Amino acid sequence: MEVVSLRRLESQKYSTATKKSVFYLVPQMVTAGVILAVIFIVTAIKIENLPQNFDNLPTQPAASLHTKGPVRPYAQTINPEQIAPDSNDMAIVFANKFLEALPPPTPDCKVVACVALTFDDGPEEKSTTMILDSLDRNFAHATFFVLGYKVAGSQDLIKRMHQSNNEIGNHSWNHASFLTIDRAGIQHQVSKTQDAIKKTGVPAPQLFRPPYGDFLVKMQRDIKLAVILWNVDPKDWDKNNPAKIAEVVKKQVKPGSIIVMHDKMATAKALPIILRDLRTKYKFVTVSQLLNLKPNAKGVYVGR
Ligand code: NI
Repeated sequence: MEVVSLRRLESQKYSTATKKSVFYLVPQMVTAGVILAVIFIVTAIKIENLPQNFDNLPTQPAASLHTKGPVRPYAQTINPEQIAPDSNDMAIVFANKFLEALPPPTPDCKVVACVALTFDDGPEEKSTTMILDSLDRNFAHATFFVLGYKVAGSQDLIKRMHQSNNEIGNHSWNHASFLTIDRAGIQHQVSKTQDAIKKTGVPAPQLFRPPYGDFLVKMQRDIKLAVILWNVDPKDWDKNNPAKIAEVVKKQVKPGSIIVMHDKMATAKALPIILRDLRTKYKFVTVSQLLNLKPNAKGVYVGR
């Protein structure tokens, strides 16, 4: 009996102590709750204030980015110094670190079968939008050789091409054959288009595709960009049947192919078929990725 009552006594003491200490903790718990709520609200405000729209950010990589390590032109197009004027803001610093840590989107085309889809003569409101939608849905990337005179009215399309990690190339100002103009004319066609593209806020193109493929080796001294021709040509400019365009591509394509197509409706409709036909065998990469081109590379290329 005595043992039992002792135990009861012990347990009564214990429960009183517990009640006391819990009661004693209440104000501390309230304080802790308030601190947590403040931290939560401050973090939420900082996240809310992170740049939501990358349209307005400078997209030209800092020169120093080109010199260190392997070149990742697409992952590095946001310069952390420029988007984080207040670099003490931990939330923004963290966001930048996260962006930098993203793996480069480039598959190694030395070991993986890659193809470069290219679309010339755009941008065009309807077909470019359709092409970009198809590429995005399939995690595919392509290269758009745009005409300078069309760029000014299509800034959003140019930005979207770039933001989806597609490449933008120069296809001259107004599609003049370079066999019909002089050296000054060639320089003007190229530089005016470079300027129009840069003005939209995307990096200056590294690639040039001559209109009609009209090109002489000596023209490189005036073009001053890598010249990109092709080795697969479905002649989509002459076809209005999307299935037919897709069929020729499927027949001609090989690992390392550069496929020339045009930014037009029949081709935009052919693209989902092409992607479906080829996606189990090939990675869809930009021309610079396919050829592993370094910034400011020169040369003439028809495929890998
Ligand atoms: Ni063209």
